[in-house]
Amino acid sequence: MKALITAGGHGTRLRPITHTQNKHLIPIANKPILSYALDYVKEAGIREVGIITNKDGSEVKDVYGDGRQMGLAITYIPQERPAGLADCVRIAEPFIGTEPFVFYLGDNIIVGGIKRFIDEFHSRKSHCHLVLARVPDPERFGVPEIRDNRIVRIEEKPEKPKSDYAVTGIYIYDSSIFDAVNSIKPSARGELEISDAHQYLIEKGLTVTYSEITGWWKDTGKPNDLLEANRLVLDNIQTNIVGNIDKDSHISGRVIIQEGCKIQNSNIRGPVIIGSGTRITNAYIGPYTSIERNCLIQDSEIEYSIVSEACKISDQKIRIEGSLLGKGVQIVRAKSKPFTNRFIVGDQSIVEIR
Ligand code: DAU
Repeated sequence: MKALITAGGHGTRLRPITHTQNKHLIPIANKPILSYALDYVKEAGIREVGIITNKDGSEVKDVYGDGRQMGLAITYIPQERPAGLADCVRIAEPFIGTEPFVFYLGDNIIVGGIKRFIDEFHSRKSHCHLVLARVPDPERFGVPEIRDNRIVRIEEKPEKPKSDYAVTGIYIYDSSIFDAVNSIKPSARGELEISDAHQYLIEKGLTVTYSEITGWWKDTGKPNDLLEANRLVLDNIQTNIVGNIDKDSHISGRVIIQEGCKIQNSNIRGPVIIGSGTRITNAYIGPYTSIERNCLIQDSEIEYSIVSEACKISDQKIRIEGSLLGKGVQIVRAKSKPFTNRFIVGDQSIVEIR
């Protein structure tokens, strides 16, 4: 079995971070979102993986190469423009061939892996196996209508959802999906919708089955989703301290402190992960915070946040919370007069000041 993973699209809801970075490379607990997808397919025993990228997929290629380091064989499939998820499947047909395959949206994170869903697909002799999750806001997703434990209809982002389930970004197909993606027409927003391909299979009378995710699942489309996914992943970490902590610091809860970190006179309250080479001085790092490598946090307090590599936060009087910092961001105090607030922020940045 092969896997097809998406890493293209616009990432518009995650601007400004996605102005300069592919959204699938944003770190969750100091690991790119896409690495979770690759880990799940590997765990399920799959070695051959196709990754859909934007036209210029170099950013993703630079990180994963041919996949050998992860024990995978990766083929990159560039998409001319983000023309929809069914378009991703359509252009991957030469790579997939005629065998069943897993289609995984690279911005989805779940707990418990995907092997159980592949087993269900085989045991129920499905043409298409979908994975559903109960959500409070189904109108953001593909939504199934279920009668007598059967999916009778699927609608993409309906105004009036027919159930409180979302179709998550984990799909297992046999080759009948290619007939579907080659037959459907673009939606009102000009995309080939994967929900329309599923509806096509249902109308053709093919076997469309489903499993329900019982643990957690996150589609990391918006900044708050990233913070929540970060929280959920950090909730499952085990303590591992390699870096250097001085005697004036206090560590509590589960923390990962990686090689070359220096923690001085600080209070770290887990779950927290701190990347290699980062320095924390006279600071408080509170629960559900991920700080990547080579950052400096001093005389400041931060919690429930994601801090990308090479950021500097210093001398902040008010605790930073619920924040998402891209690479190399600096939040510092003015060193000379006039002591004003001075901002150099890129397009579509958000600065909320108390
Ligand atoms: O996360 C589950 C939801 O994913 C489903 O419930 C929806 O039915 C499905 O349409 C999809 O909705 P989203 O609006 O969340 O899809 P999004 O545009 O965010 O794209 C999902 C992934 O696919 C993401 O990894 C970006 C990538 N992508 C997207 C498009 C449209 C591509 O690589 N190429 C594309 O053309």
